[in-house]
Amino acid sequence: MKAKIKYWIRDAMRPLIIRPYPNAGGMDYVDPKKKSNFVGKIVLAAALTALCILMLKQSSTFRSPSPFSQRDTGVTHVLVTGGAGYIGSHAALRLLKDSHRVTIVDNLSRGNIGAVRVLETLFPQHGRLQFIYADLGDAKAVNKIFSENAFDAVIHFAAVAYVGESTLDPLKYYHNITSNTLVVLEAMAAHGVQTLIYSSTCATYGEPEKMPITEQTPQLPINPYGKAKKMSEDIILDFHKNSDMAVMILRYFNVIGSDPEGRLGEAPRPELREHGRISGACFDAARGITPGLKVRGTDYKTADGTCIRDYIDVSDLVDAHVRALEKAKPGKVGIYNVGTGKGRSVNEFVEACKKATGVEIKVDFLPRRPGDYAEVFSDPTKIRDELNWTARYTNLQESLEIAWRWQKSHRDGYGSPS
Ligand SMILES: NC(=O)c1ccc[n+]([C@@H]2O[C@H](COP(=O)([O-])OP(=O)(O)OC[C@H]3O[C@@H](n4cnc5c(N)ncnc54)[C@H](O)[C@@H]3O)[C@@H](O)[C@H]2O)c1
Ligand SMILES: *[C@@H]1O[C@H](CO)[C@@H](O)[C@H](O)[C@H]1NC(C)=O
Ligand SMILES: *[C@@H]1O[C@H](CO)[C@@H](O)[C@H](O)[C@H]1NC(C)=O
Ligand SMILES: *[C@@H]1O[C@H](CO)[C@@H](O)[C@H](O)[C@H]1NC(C)=O
Repeated sequence: MKAKIKYWIRDAMRPLIIRPYPNAGGMDYVDPKKKSNFVGKIVLAAALTALCILMLKQSSTFRSPSPFSQRDTGVTHVLVTGGAGYIGSHAALRLLKDSHRVTIVDNLSRGNIGAVRVLETLFPQHGRLQFIYADLGDAKAVNKIFSENAFDAVIHFAAVAYVGESTLDPLKYYHNITSNTLVVLEAMAAHGVQTLIYSSTCATYGEPEKMPITEQTPQLPINPYGKAKKMSEDIILDFHKNSDMAVMILRYFNVIGSDPEGRLGEAPRPELREHGRISGACFDAARGITPGLKVRGTDYKTADGTCIRDYIDVSDLVDAHVRALEKAKPGKVGIYNVGTGKGRSVNEFVEACKKATGVEIKVDFLPRRPGDYAEVFSDPTKIRDELNWTARYTNLQESLEIAWRWQKSHRDGYGSPS
């Protein structure tokens, strides 16, 4: 901001300072009338400057022309909602690495400002990355963001995303998933933003009888999280029928892992541990933050009785977004499962986690958790054929080793790296 103010003042004063004697014609002679005129201009400039500083101080809405408000050929400006979160921050890192321009909008209800700081440190150049603190439920704020920035594409990650929590607090899910997606879509339509990549989930399929899950598998979600995401998809698809927006809907399976170079990790709020996902729970147990790992449900109709899931590494997932962005076509919609195509049981996962952390984690077996389903894994054929994408980080233990390295060196998440 400081730098911006400096430039702005410099630019504002330029016409007054550079040519004080437009008619002097190179002569040394200074007419006293012109001299007082000159003093007057200096006083005027000072007064204007003071006024400007006052304006800048009083109005947070005032900004100097920013590269984010302009379209530059060859630069794709991507709005990443939820970019302070786990997946969003990894996606922003990749987009920046690929020379895109990135705007992150997040209200930090779940994400980490520390992740944004890491990205800012890696890409400090003017016009690469900006962070805007805003709530997507605030349609006025969202509209303002769209009117002040020239986005080429939106990747909409922001959401609340815990199946268990959604069964306890469904309205939070319909509000922060479905309703907020509508707000984003309306803003995109109003401001002519042409490309949308939407974060959906395998939870929209519910518990299908036939595995693996293809994109044709009927969507019958069984918890508010899956239903809220399915409703968002429906809103997007209905809107799309009458527009030439380029839409890609990616249905992720279970996301694990973190940046192989150790710059980013997954750091949910401590109060969400209760609802947390399995990898976080494993690491917490390995670090002794929790006494052990609770495996919920051992009587599912699976080989070892524990749930079966398809674990997709975040690096692969982010790569799928990049391919989707590249292949998005106006007026077309693409819906893709993003998974490895291979199911692994919770027991297998726990064994891999023990090996990755080197800790003999204590495991408690408990009754089923509401809203969970026995077996879910993807058929990733469509995304391979159409987007030339396949999962590459398919070694569970290796993905967990990478994530564990970050966890071990960031005991307090992004709070205080040690
Ligand atoms: N993690 C998974 O296994 C998984 C699986 C399938 C789909 N998804 C989807 O991927 C997306 C990202 O998930 P994640 O795991 O990174 O979650 P996350 O909680 O780490 O990130 C979500 C981000 O959205 C932000 N956010 C939430 N509500 C907001 C609001 N109203 N305004 C502004 N920002 C808001 C949060 O602050 C957070 O930074 C979600 O849409 C989720 O449903 C995740
Ligand atoms: C984030 O947005 C939600 C609404 O979606 C709101 O209830 C919450 O208070 C906001 N959190 C912060 C920290 O602003
Ligand atoms: C989601 O929305 C509800 C309002 O329904 C709000 O109370 C809550 O704080 C929001 N949650 C998050 C995590 O943003
Ligand atoms: C598919 O992707 C691989 C790299 O992942 C690349 O080597 C190959 O050329 C791509 N094929 C096509 C048809 O684009």
